[in-house]
Amino acid sequence: MSEGIVTASYVGATILFILALGGLSNQETARRGNLYGIVGMTIALIATIAGVTGNMGILVVGLLLGGTIGLVLAKRVQMTEMPELVAMLHSLVGLAAVLVGFANFMDPERLSHYSGIELTIHDVETYLGILIGAVTFSGSIIAFGKLSGKIGGNPMILPARHWLNLGLLIISIWLCGMFVDQSAAGGGTMPLLIMTAVALLFGIHMVMAIGGADMPVVVSMLNSYSGWAASATGFMLSNDLLIVTGALVGSSGAILSYIMCRAMNRKFLAVIAGGFGTTTGGGGASVEEQGEVIALQANEVAALLTESKEVMIIPGYGMAVAQAQHIVNEITKALRAKKINVRFGIHPVAGRMPGHMNVLLAEAKVPYDIVFEMDEINDDFPDIDVSIVIGANDIVNPSAQTDPDSPIAGMPVMEPWKGGTTIVLKRGMATGYAGVQNPLFFKENTRMLFGDAKSSLDEVFKNL
Ligand code: TAP
Repeated sequence: MSEGIVTASYVGATILFILALGGLSNQETARRGNLYGIVGMTIALIATIAGVTGNMGILVVGLLLGGTIGLVLAKRVQMTEMPELVAMLHSLVGLAAVLVGFANFMDPERLSHYSGIELTIHDVETYLGILIGAVTFSGSIIAFGKLSGKIGGNPMILPARHWLNLGLLIISIWLCGMFVDQSAAGGGTMPLLIMTAVALLFGIHMVMAIGGADMPVVVSMLNSYSGWAASATGFMLSNDLLIVTGALVGSSGAILSYIMCRAMNRKFLAVIAGGFGTTTGGGGASVEEQGEVIALQANEVAALLTESKEVMIIPGYGMAVAQAQHIVNEITKALRAKKINVRFGIHPVAGRMPGHMNVLLAEAKVPYDIVFEMDEINDDFPDIDVSIVIGANDIVNPSAQTDPDSPIAGMPVMEPWKGGTTIVLKRGMATGYAGVQNPLFFKENTRMLFGDAKSSLDEVFKNL
């Protein structure tokens, strides 16, 4: 393939990636956005492969191997395990950046290709690529461990952790100077290796220090880092497509992190510095039960729903676990047929990934126009007769507003207790992701419907 065609394909792929991001910003255009992304990536892959000279055999083996692993993983993964998969994939982007960086550094022709200021710039690109890649790699592995429950969700707070981070940063800058100096004379391996170890430690420390409830921000932050790592690799390899695509991922990940921080009332820098979600020991942070709960049967829930005029459904992680979205849609249709106004209230961090609930509801074909963001609907609770909380916990926890010692203190939450009756569907009295008790369950106007959300809703539907 001529260089002109490769460049034109790169421009085409870049435009498609931008269109993909635009499409993904709205649920009605998300499908089209996905399609643009797939076509863009296919064009990018074909153009990149066609531009390769020599070593085609290795490339094909690599493609087949990587493609097969990706396919098997994607087929096996449950929707609820998606954040773990994403964290794992980020770690691979980081690892790729590190390996490409070292390969680039060890290229025997490097010193004959570059000299003077060009060599310095190239070395700094290599150094940054490896640095960001190593932080992304180790941070993502820890994030995977925390999300999958293999590593405890509690933050690991080392004494003087901010000084430790600052120290690691200063060492990295100092090593960069040393690396650039030594590289021109044909050396530089040692500072590069030490920096890689420092960056790996930094990644581990950064994510270990983040409390369970703040993990959503970390996942999107690592997403952003993986983009910048790819972009730095693009500079190393003088590949425009990689630079632009990395920058798109990096900046969109950063914007998403900012949005999530705002949604959780956290300061972005404070989350990165770690230690949020740490405070425990306050009254609300305890997991002890705070009184008696009132349990109902499915037929009683059906009766309550039929008698109401305004119903709010608040889905959470448990709806995803139970795969209850289809029966939720059936119940919605049945209630709307009885002229009951049904709306959905979606918390920005409900479930385990951004947009988790919207994806499930769209899959079940719940009409978009009755699905509202928390900010749009939180003031309407006083007019609601019945709220049904389906497998949600942290996002409806009033202690976020009342207990300054709670790990979720300050996080905006849905406020069903301000309405008529709240019905909570869950299997038992287990806590949610943040591991704190929920005073909502013990309120006077709350009723519990215990059991798997899908089985419970099947019963409710029969009674409707
Ligand atoms: P959670 O607070 O995690 O609560 C989920 C509840 O669902 C649990 O209390 C559980 O209680 C119940 N449940 C589980 N399986 C069920 C089933 N089959 N049937 C019925 N109930 C079931 O969920 P949430 O309210 O959606 O809050 C999300 C939390 O995850 C937040 O703390 C958020 O910070 C965190 N997080 C979010 C993201 C993103 S980006 N959304 C990413 C990582 C972490 P039982 O076991 O008693 O049934």
